[in-house]
Amino acid sequence: MSEFTEKVESELLSYMPESENEDVKKLLESMKYSLMAGGKRVRPYLVGAFARLCGGSVESAMPFACALEMIHTYSLIHDDLPCMDNDDLRRGKPTNHKVYGEATALLAGNGLLTHAFETILSEKAVSLNGYEKCVKAGRVLAQCAGADGMLGGQMIDLESEGKSVTAEHLKTMDNKKTGALMIAAAKLGCISAGAGKEQLEAAEEYAENIGLTFQIVDDILDITSTAEELGKPIGSDNANEKSTYAALLGLEKCRELSRELTEKAVKALEIFENDTTELRNFAYYLLEREN
Ligand code: IPE
Ligand code: IPE
Ligand code: MG
Ligand code: MG
Ligand code: MG
Repeated sequence: MSEFTEKVESELLSYMPESENEDVKKLLESMKYSLMAGGKRVRPYLVGAFARLCGGSVESAMPFACALEMIHTYSLIHDDLPCMDNDDLRRGKPTNHKVYGEATALLAGNGLLTHAFETILSEKAVSLNGYEKCVKAGRVLAQCAGADGMLGGQMIDLESEGKSVTAEHLKTMDNKKTGALMIAAAKLGCISAGAGKEQLEAAEEYAENIGLTFQIVDDILDITSTAEELGKPIGSDNANEKSTYAALLGLEKCRELSRELTEKAVKALEIFENDTTELRNFAYYLLEREN
């Protein structure tokens, strides 16, 4: 599968628009700066892995995977803005607003968000998947990225700063701000492969559990790692008085909880007839990851 993420790396740019206008070129440059800064490509990986698990082709899943990575990258650009987490380092480089200024960073995020939908509805996506699957994928992507998905989670995150909240509250927040795009990834892969309801539900159950694990591990690493290792600042959550599982439960309980969630995710894979080793290993990789 690393082959698939390598392909994502090379294909992402081919989906990006071009312009002859010098000002628009600057906007496109800022969009590409963040997009190509070298993320882990976890979400595109999941799109490809679920497409393959459900008997689809990874080529057909590619435009869906690229569209999702655009949405994810936009969420990071905006997440780093001074009005949000106010961070200066992302993917090992200065954040978008540090290089291009806040206004351009805002537009770069908007540009990637918009262009994700152009990508999912592109002639290439339609010729590979057909109209029906592209419409389904677009709908899932919009729902997962929107106000009751990632964006809603970001709103809860902001509203929870400096407050003492319950574990249930954190679960809702993390399921939305991080889980929703993981769920989108799993579902886009399934949709591209023409998977049935039972497979879609199991994929969602897997993604929800690895999504929550992913955010808990992210919060742990914000305390225990280094900026060199993460490619983003550490101590950001503490500085912003973020409400996190790590702050509420402490590191040991968080590690225990993330192990339990990973087991749940792995269990959800049992209904699939094809070999699930890759996705099982991926869940454990996300649990043990160090960046
Ligand atoms: C960071 O996501 C934002 C969270 C949801 C915690 P990633 O850790 O996947 O970031 P990249 O894409 O590798 O930079
Ligand atoms: C961000 O969570 C989740 C998004 C939707 C971008 P964080 O704010 O913890 O992500 P990082 O640590 O900045 O990557
Ligand atoms: Mg944040
Ligand atoms: Mg942040
Ligand atoms: Mg974080």
